[in-house]
Amino acid sequence: MAETKKLLRALAGEVQDVPPIWMMRQAGRYLPEYRATRAQAGDFLSLCYNPELAAEVTLQPIRRYGFDAAILFADILLVPQALGADLWFVTGEGPRLSTITRHAEFDALKPIDAIHETLSPVYETVRILSRELPSETTLIGFAGAPWTVATYMIAGRGTPDQGPAHALRESDTVLFEALLDRITAATIEYLSAQIDAGAEVVKIFDSWAGSLKGEAFRKYAVEPCRVITQSIKERHPGIPVIGFPREAGEGYIGFAKTTGVDCVALDNSVSPDWAARHVQIEGCVQGNLASSHMVTGGQALVDETRRIVEAFSKGPHIFNLGHGITPDADPENVQLMIDTVRAR
Ligand code: CP3
Repeated sequence: MAETKKLLRALAGEVQDVPPIWMMRQAGRYLPEYRATRAQAGDFLSLCYNPELAAEVTLQPIRRYGFDAAILFADILLVPQALGADLWFVTGEGPRLSTITRHAEFDALKPIDAIHETLSPVYETVRILSRELPSETTLIGFAGAPWTVATYMIAGRGTPDQGPAHALRESDTVLFEALLDRITAATIEYLSAQIDAGAEVVKIFDSWAGSLKGEAFRKYAVEPCRVITQSIKERHPGIPVIGFPREAGEGYIGFAKTTGVDCVALDNSVSPDWAARHVQIEGCVQGNLASSHMVTGGQALVDETRRIVEAFSKGPHIFNLGHGITPDADPENVQLMIDTVRAR
């Protein structure tokens, strides 16, 4: 049967007049219905581990906007927690984790097989979603890339420059690489279990890839993504993979070819014309509207949306933001973006 889902068609390389649309963090605090369900769950992590409520918040933006894809509601930091790190969220500040900077702390991490014990509610969320999503909507599973996840595990929190992770990779390369390898192996098992539960596409978020340059970018951003993608494709032939080496700049060039991902997600630091010429020639791209337009709206949103759709119109494209939508976004601006894309 010919593929009917718009997102899967784009990932297979089809050029469409109207590209499929979804948004990073589409289930999130800008939506009143999300805030209500989150209050019902108690806190963010309780929401992640409650399959019924996590499925509910995943479905909310699909009901409201009819996006072409739903992204599983979870977080990239559930993997460190499943490996044994303590994890909590400080309201208004972000995540906190117990740190890994010494061999003894690394040695205390759990073996790969143990992760499913913690992560099984996430697989249940995926099973619920694959039953409940509309037939035209694609279900995306995801995980953080090893480098990005490691930056949080090493620093114990988000950092502006990923300084502690860079320091460890220089002062104790053996420990740093062992940690990356452990995360890589856990990520393969985690994504594979999401696919077994019903995820149709998986996305690897390397939010801090941009702070790796040259050889370090190749070793710690490109190579782990290649290893994960290759394993997923061996185990699950036909499942597309989206890579997001955020702020990679010229590192976007050749990324799809070297890693084997089916689609490269673009942040908004690259111009769509540049990306069409240098990245989209290798296959599908996703992105790259600045998420600030979801706050400011108006004619600038319409103009920039049209410019992106036009620039990518000659190749396979999935319309998305360059990064997650922020809590101060106006839900009406999201509708304006969708209407602008679909009015083509
Ligand atoms: O995109 C989606 O709608 C799916 C769910 C999703 C979340 N986080 C939910 C979430 C996804 C794909 C993520 C990925 C994620 N998480 C990344 C990579 C993408 C990116 O944004 O760069 C990173 C780095 C994290 C780690 C993380 N989670 C941080 C730093 C924070 C705090 C910052 C913030 O935005 O509050 C979170 C919390 C988080 N993850 C929220 C959501 C909806 C907000 C939590 C809340 O409701 O309070």
